[in-house]
Amino acid sequence: MNKRVMTLDEFTIQELRNYPGATGQLSGLLRDIGLASKRVNVEVNKAGIADILGEAGKTNVQGEAVKKLDEFANDQLISTLRNSIYCCGVASEENEEFIAFEDELSMNSKYVVLMDPLDGSGNIDVNVSIGTIFSVYRRLSPNGTRCTLEDFLQPGSQQIAAGYIIYGSSTMLVYATRRSVQGFTLDPSIGEFCLSHPNLKVPEDSDIFSVNVGYYHLYEEKVRNAIDLFMAKDNTQRVYRHRFVGCMVSEIHRTLIQGGIFMYPIFGKYTQGRLRLCYECNPMSFLMEKAGGMAIADGERRLLDIKPTELHQRIPIFIGSKNMVEAVKETLR
Ligand code: AHG
Ligand code: MN
Ligand code: MN
Ligand code: MN
Repeated sequence: MNKRVMTLDEFTIQELRNYPGATGQLSGLLRDIGLASKRVNVEVNKAGIADILGEAGKTNVQGEAVKKLDEFANDQLISTLRNSIYCCGVASEENEEFIAFEDELSMNSKYVVLMDPLDGSGNIDVNVSIGTIFSVYRRLSPNGTRCTLEDFLQPGSQQIAAGYIIYGSSTMLVYATRRSVQGFTLDPSIGEFCLSHPNLKVPEDSDIFSVNVGYYHLYEEKVRNAIDLFMAKDNTQRVYRHRFVGCMVSEIHRTLIQGGIFMYPIFGKYTQGRLRLCYECNPMSFLMEKAGGMAIADGERRLLDIKPTELHQRIPIFIGSKNMVEAVKETLR
């Protein structure tokens, strides 16, 4: 009956035993991110009663309205990482500039973190899933110094770890390292993330596609052609199911478990795409590739190969099951 499951801490310590030479710093960092997300989770759960809903009356650096929970999540993550000794700096979707931690222990840490503290914030008011996305790089600047912008502007292929927390019907933390993708579910009775989805692999094929079809006529012709691959034109064709939650974390989580493709192309005023390279697309692409999937920015470029030139840069993305992304890539060429 009472099957003993491993907690996040137990699992990462177990991993250390398997890899002698590992310092445990990344495990410590993942634990701290897990801790911050548990604090966010408490607030997300009571958002309905706690007058924390709605706009905070400000706009973020990208000109979007900031919801109160975005701010809360941003503050929690930053303060937890500031207290942590495993992180020398953080860049967030909600802050114009990166933050360098200047105490001696933090400055001696080798990792920087980039994050979208609250993804899918448009879903808050309607009680639909939201998430947190994070990305970890090894700093390029020397240990013991203040971290620099260059530490944050590395191509996604250089990530050490990346993942997300989904605040859904249950709260889960899913993360990838260079070795594997692991999924943990929050057990509210003990307040711990417990290993529930070991060694996640994305199905190579699926019957689900996800894209905002509201913008269909605003997409480039080759993108419309790619979407048309999944739209049955008569009864003889293979039929696909369409899903669009409006929260990248949810789309990626579904894709990871059930397979499929999620697309966010260029349209209208979003001439470089809407989703952010450093906070959203890089971490999700790293995770998807580690799970056996694929992620591209267009017909030519693997997303993880792109070298960011600025923190808040945007990028189009096509991500998910290998066969489906391959088919789209062919069409986009
Ligand atoms: P954020 O809440 O962090 O600003 O990101 C929301 C993003 C993304 O998660 C989602 O896929 C997209 O916005 C949905 O936008 P549209 O509804 O305009 O397509
Ligand atoms: Mn936002
Ligand atoms: Mn987002
Ligand atoms: Mn956000």
